[in-house]
Amino acid sequence: MRSLTNLIERNRAWAEKITSREPDFFRKLSEQQAPEYFWIGCSDSRVSANEIVNLPPGEMFVHRNVANVVVHTDLNCLSATQYAVEALKVKHIIVCGHYGCGGVKAALQNQKLGLIDNWLRHVQDVMREHAALLAEIGDESDRIDKLCELNIIEQVYSVCQTTVVQSAWERGQELTVHGWIYALTDGHVQDLNIHITNQEEMSTVYRNAIAAVRQTKSSGELSRQTAR
Ligand code: CO
Repeated sequence: MRSLTNLIERNRAWAEKITSREPDFFRKLSEQQAPEYFWIGCSDSRVSANEIVNLPPGEMFVHRNVANVVVHTDLNCLSATQYAVEALKVKHIIVCGHYGCGGVKAALQNQKLGLIDNWLRHVQDVMREHAALLAEIGDESDRIDKLCELNIIEQVYSVCQTTVVQSAWERGQELTVHGWIYALTDGHVQDLNIHITNQEEMSTVYRNAIAAVRQTKSSGELSRQTAR
């Protein structure tokens, strides 16, 4: 099939459903966007940003990549962050990863997949940083889930260290960076109890979040334990 007629038809039905409820919806939205949230998530098809928090178009600015990694030399992620913070003046940045992340799994297992291995090196850096914590976990699925959590916390910390976020806080702009994890198995998002609102609390909140990961079992781990 040359053209994706089925998708175009789905698009028309979707747009009509919205305009039947709110005739001015698209016209008003075309004039401006004023989202409060900037989402940094994994590219995984099952973790679609707006949908899992049930938000309509216009409410969330989105950047996604494999394994929701924030790297200081990634112009794509940094540019999206700058636009979100400086132009749109979002109030919240949410780094949302997910359990069972293929990128995190490939990093943990040191799989050789080609070009992407270079990208996943960043997740392997997280792995090396927390090698002692991960070594305490016997089951591999549990270890992957723990690395998913640790990766989110590390990426939250990276977001906070960007010049964009640092400058926003210096200007006194209200901006909170959050870390969430999504469970593919039940569609629920869990807050990883990391909310950073300024430079001063960065280190303490980070340390507490890592300590919490060490002490608590992930929801995947708990459900596997019940199933065993
Ligand atoms: Co993923």
